[in-house]
Amino acid sequence: MDSKTIRAKHKEYMLPAVANYYQEPVVLHEGKGARIKDLDGNTYLDFFGGILTVSVGHANERVNNAIIQQVQRLSHVSTLYPTVPMVELAEKLIKLAPGNLKKVFFTASGTEADETAVNLAQVATGNLEVIALRHGYSGRSMLAQSLTAHSNYRSVPTQVAGIKHAMSPYCYRCPLKLEPSSCGVQCARDIEELIRTTTTGRIAGMLAEPIQGVGGFIVPPKEYLEIAAEIVRRYGGLMIIDEVQTGFGRTGKMWGAQMSGVEPDIMTMAKGIANGLPLAATLATPFVADAFKASTISTFGGNPVSCAAASAVLDEIEEHRLVENAARRGEELRVGLERIQKKYPKTIGDVRGMGLMQAIELVVDETIKDRTPNPKATLRLFEETKKRNLLIGKGGLYGNTVRIAPPLNVTASEVEESLKILDESFAAMGAN
Ligand SMILES: Cc1ncc(COP(=O)(O)O)c(C=O)c1O
Repeated sequence: MDSKTIRAKHKEYMLPAVANYYQEPVVLHEGKGARIKDLDGNTYLDFFGGILTVSVGHANERVNNAIIQQVQRLSHVSTLYPTVPMVELAEKLIKLAPGNLKKVFFTASGTEADETAVNLAQVATGNLEVIALRHGYSGRSMLAQSLTAHSNYRSVPTQVAGIKHAMSPYCYRCPLKLEPSSCGVQCARDIEELIRTTTTGRIAGMLAEPIQGVGGFIVPPKEYLEIAAEIVRRYGGLMIIDEVQTGFGRTGKMWGAQMSGVEPDIMTMAKGIANGLPLAATLATPFVADAFKASTISTFGGNPVSCAAASAVLDEIEEHRLVENAARRGEELRVGLERIQKKYPKTIGDVRGMGLMQAIELVVDETIKDRTPNPKATLRLFEETKKRNLLIGKGGLYGNTVRIAPPLNVTASEVEESLKILDESFAAMGAN
């Protein structure tokens, strides 16, 4: 079958809401490392990795071998039985996790990991209300849609009560119209007023992404999480850190929350954990984990094949020092993007991110501070980069933020190649 046929069948059979990138979606067929081929034989540099998930590159040999060996041995038992891959992975994650996170519950998606986290916080504290962040994304279940603060991703009005959304630490579009150099991180301090005015005064916790991923790689001021955690804990709550996008070296550190001094009470992870196999984990302190007394199972949680893949991912990250590579290549990517921003100062309003999680926000005219989002320019950039064989991602409430997140083992020359394509693409679309 060719790409055209697949596109037509996709359109015929999938829910129309399943959006694809590009006017003519690319039908991806095989990959190796940071390169991916479509069904028509075109090869692209994949700088979005299935939404920050292909952490150690497509068809990674170590991960594939681990999958093949495990699938030939045993593919499924559910959480009702202990297995070697599940226990080995749990031990590795606990060794890597910050603070006192000593217990794990495995599920199959980030949505479930966040659901589990909120549930644990409610049971452990005896409180129900939860603080989430505007511009945050937690997934597609009813609770996750309620935690998510993007109208685009909410199919029905918020269904789950007791969730209050704090201001996003979105410095480029500061909700308080303050300057980062002198703001005193008022957005974090406002959480106290939010709790005192909109909740019963006792909360279960706050769920926060260290960098808001779907929101457009929004990086908070480095004091943000610490100020927020102090307030949340004073009102009886726990800190739930969602590392679904930021975990496993993506930011140039093992965990995104390491940018702060905050030790999470609960941490969630998914995406990059198993290089694309469905797996997620919720880690908790013994106090939190022990409080949960109800029976709980996850049919697909801790699937042995996914766990074997995740263990291989962690070995790959350690052996090839990929956290350091993410920091170094991330720095090169950032310097290059800032160089491009100087060439197109009207169009590129902001460059932000950490490590291999970098974003550029496109606006009408940054030189006169007209920061009106420019989603049309973003779409044009997508088409131009595609023509030049580079795949990138999109994000942000306004659809005007480009997300760039290659695999952690991307090389310096691949980063250079991507920057050249981006520069040429901006030129081709007449950016200035
Ligand atoms: C920060 C964050 N949390 C949770 C989720 C939900 O994960 P999943 O799509 O695996 O359910 C996502 C997905 O993009 C995410 O970015």
